[in-house]
Amino acid sequence: MSSPAVEIKSLTQEKTLAKKSSLCHAENMNKIQEASLQIQKGEVVAFPTETVYGLGADAFNEAAIQKIYALKGRPSSNPLIVHIADLNDLELLARPLNAIEKQLVTAFWPGPLTLILDKKETVPMATTGGLSTVAVRMPAHPMALELIKRAGTPIAAPSANLSGKPSATHHDHVRHYFGDQVFCLEGGATQHGLESTVVHVKGNEIHVYRLGSILPEDLSTVTEKNVILETRSIHSPGTQFKHYAPKARVELISKKIWDERVKKAEEAKEKVALLAPKEWMEVPTKFPKFSLGSEENLVEIGANLYRALITMDQPTVDTLFLPAFPEQGLGKTLMDRLKRAAEIEGV
Ligand code: TXA
Ligand code: MG
Repeated sequence: MSSPAVEIKSLTQEKTLAKKSSLCHAENMNKIQEASLQIQKGEVVAFPTETVYGLGADAFNEAAIQKIYALKGRPSSNPLIVHIADLNDLELLARPLNAIEKQLVTAFWPGPLTLILDKKETVPMATTGGLSTVAVRMPAHPMALELIKRAGTPIAAPSANLSGKPSATHHDHVRHYFGDQVFCLEGGATQHGLESTVVHVKGNEIHVYRLGSILPEDLSTVTEKNVILETRSIHSPGTQFKHYAPKARVELISKKIWDERVKKAEEAKEKVALLAPKEWMEVPTKFPKFSLGSEENLVEIGANLYRALITMDQPTVDTLFLPAFPEQGLGKTLMDRLKRAAEIEGV
């Protein structure tokens, strides 16, 4: 098969394997070992995944899970994603997969896809925000996989940011949010920079609760099932909360009116920073700028987006100008995050 989804999978696996040798050298192995002991002791550890950094704890240790909520300032009704390193770990968490779920897992794991499954009784309600379902994914990152294996338990982990803020896509961002409060495995910049796609298979349909790098069209190509977007779903508590929002106001501007809007802001002496594709930066201006990469490469833009938001959210800046992209393919995922950052209703 040479469907786009299968290409995504092989890409993810290749990258995982290629990184394994470089990231899991002796020094890192010692750190991973130390982190796994922290998890076993009921402590919280930050670690890289291929999407964003996670703030992890033993999924079965209620007291440890409470520490995650407290550190993030996260509402206790917003459930966590449980990360596994081996398909056999699923048995600990949920009922067996149905045929569609199996197709998804075969195509996309390890990778940025989270499945909502009926949970086993043994999974604490604290982990699932009081729901009878549990969110599970197998991350495509050698350090994350090694950490889970060594800890000997699935690791529940939300994104490693303060609640409502942009997710951490570099270990420097974890420090920015949490200082020395948590042990952090340092893996540099993450590959995708956008959180996983969250899906719930219901009967013959795939409901998408959160868009990510794996697109609705990838899901339907692999399964030939209907894919339904429910990205403000009451079934997925996290999608209801304020998200990805910097302190500064965010204004989304289309390419057509970008130059004109920048000039107007210059004239009005607004305190603005520009975060946009490099092709949009030619407009003459003294405003601080952060290039997100090429508009031809939305994957690169996704990988840089949160770093740009975190870096440019300075007290001297009132408004961040960000690009409004056409809502197709990965552009739809980017616009989901950008509209939430701008606190636009009805994403
Ligand atoms: O890429 C990712 O998914 C990252 C890395 C660390 O794995 N994690 C992440 O976790 O983004 P978090 O907690 O920031 O987002 C989890 C999302 C939330 O929107 C939450 O409401 C939803 O998944 N979720 C978790 N469990 C759920 C459940 N049982 N039913 C519906 N939605 C659920
Ligand atoms: Mg999050």
